[in-house]
This record gives sequence, structure tokens and C-alpha cells, in this order.
Amino acid sequence: MEPIYKGKDFITLEDWSKPQIDKLLEVSKDLKNKFLNNVPTPFLTHKTAFLMFFEQSTRTRNSMESGLAQLGGHATFLDTSTMQISHGESAKDTAVILSSYGHGIAARNCFWGIGNRYLRSMAEHANVPVMNLQCDLYHPMQGLADLMTIQEKTKTTKKLKVSIIWAYAESHKKPISVPVTQVLLFPRYGMDVTLAYPEGYDLPEWVIEKAKENAEENGGSLTVTHDQDAAYKDADIVIPKNWGSWVNNPSDDVVDDVLTANRSWKCSEERMNLASKNVYYMHALPADRENEVENTVIDGARSIVYQEAENRLHTAKAVMALTMGDK
Ligand code: CP
Repeated sequence: MEPIYKGKDFITLEDWSKPQIDKLLEVSKDLKNKFLNNVPTPFLTHKTAFLMFFEQSTRTRNSMESGLAQLGGHATFLDTSTMQISHGESAKDTAVILSSYGHGIAARNCFWGIGNRYLRSMAEHANVPVMNLQCDLYHPMQGLADLMTIQEKTKTTKKLKVSIIWAYAESHKKPISVPVTQVLLFPRYGMDVTLAYPEGYDLPEWVIEKAKENAEENGGSLTVTHDQDAAYKDADIVIPKNWGSWVNNPSDDVVDDVLTANRSWKCSEERMNLASKNVYYMHALPADRENEVENTVIDGARSIVYQEAENRLHTAKAVMALTMGDK
């Protein structure tokens, strides 16, 4: 029986089966094709969604807003500092009220130990789908766009050597949600994933255990190392990106001694030369240029960051079309 998508929350891809994720990808590819050929896609005519942002965003906000307009609907951008949330209004009351005004609620809340619980609380009380625009633990919109991009660039994801590598950055203390999403998702598609990071930047133990389980069930693998050069060696795809030391140190401070000791964790031309000759460089963006990555790499021939960012539009539209649509 075809799974039911209408009303399904999109909080983590762990709650979506592989056939359901495949359906999201199929719809994303179709919507991309139609967008590039100026074919109208009025699948959510007159439908509305509320986009609640506790933090800044470029890709996520604009892919959702323009995506819903392109589907025939309208998205309302909500800066939560201007909502009654800032006076303490509960997730329940906010979810119930916004549900009665529209057809979907989406939120970005990355506060450590709070964000995912906030989304789950909204989902418990909303009677429309709740979509995660990034929380402290997951970024499923990004993970889906990453998977779509990898599928576009490679013949098969089976045994593809993908390295998720911590990188130095000073711009802000970035959430762990991108590497957590990737490390859980990619092994489900048979990829051989290497996770590399310096001491102090661990992901939660349950993530590693679940990622290994996902790998075992789907013919992929997960290797964890503290050797960044080993992670670049022969990789087909490298994803060097910063994340904060939230698991070991929940302080909001951006720069500390552990961070500065790891300035050498940078994606350089030299390290890219260790990888497969057809390696692709990916990054969810925004990148901390010249800290996380040399400009010559991110602007170079192996970089697919703009295609990756572009696919955020098509995947966001697929998530909305399936969960807010009529079937
Ligand atoms: N990758 C990503 O989520 O970008 P924004 O923070 O700009 O939305």
C-alpha cells in the first residue's frame, strides 16, 4: 500500500522509510525538471505555511518561501523574536493557533538541548505537518538536497567513499545537525562513510550506534577517525565542515582553546590531492572561507556547492508538496 504523506511530519529522515525518501527524491527531480523548463507546478494552490525562524538563514528561508510560491501557495516568514514566543508563549499554543490558520508549520530552532524538543512538542499539538528547518540535532532539508546532489553526480551510491570531516571555523558555533543527518542518512544508501574530527568534537554516541546499524542493514559502512588526511585519502566525496563541540561543551562561546588548537583542520588543495582524482567537494554553506576551506577549492572545478544549494529549492518543494498536498 502506498504510504500516506499528507500530514506527515518532517522532523528527521530517520522517521521516513527508504521508499518514502526515494519518493521525495523522485518528486524533487520532477519539480526541478519542470522548474528548469518553465512548466507550472500548481500543486499547493492557495495553501499556506508558517516559517518560524529562531536563527538566521539564507538558503532555507528562501527555498521555502519561493518554493511555496512556485507551488501556488504562500509562506509567511516569522521572526520568532517578534512573536509572543519571546514573552513565553508555549509551543503547544503556537502550534494549535498556527494550525488553524494554514496548512503547514516549519521551524528552525537550533538551541542545544531545546530545538528538537520544541519541534516535537509543536508536532504533538499541530494538526498540520511540522517541518524541521534545522534543529540542534537534525537538518533533514539539507540531508535530502545533499543526497539528491550526490545521486546526480554519481552512477551509484553503493560503496561510494564519502568523508564527513570537521573543519576549523570562527564565524559561529555551528550546530551538529548537518553531520548528524549525513552520517545517519548516507549509510542507508550503501555509502562507505568516514567521519573524521579532532578530539573534543564527538557526535552523540547514539548517533554513531544508529549510523552503524543503518550501514549494516544497507550494505554501507561507518569508520570514525581523528586523522583528517586518512579521511581525504581516495575519497569520492569530501564534506569538510565545522560543527561545534556541543556534546562535550554546551557553552555558546565560539572560540576556545580546543578550537584554536585545531586550526590546521582545513580543506586545502594539498589535501584534495589525496582524494580520488574525480573527487567532489561539498558544503551545506555558509562556508567560513579560508578557515574551513581554501578559496581555490570551494571555487574550483571539483566543488559542487552551488548545485547542492540549488537543490535545496527542489527538495523543499517536494517535502511541502507531499506533506501539505491532498494525497
Ligand atoms: N545550509 C543552510 O541551511 O543554509 P541557511 O542557514 O542559509 O539556511
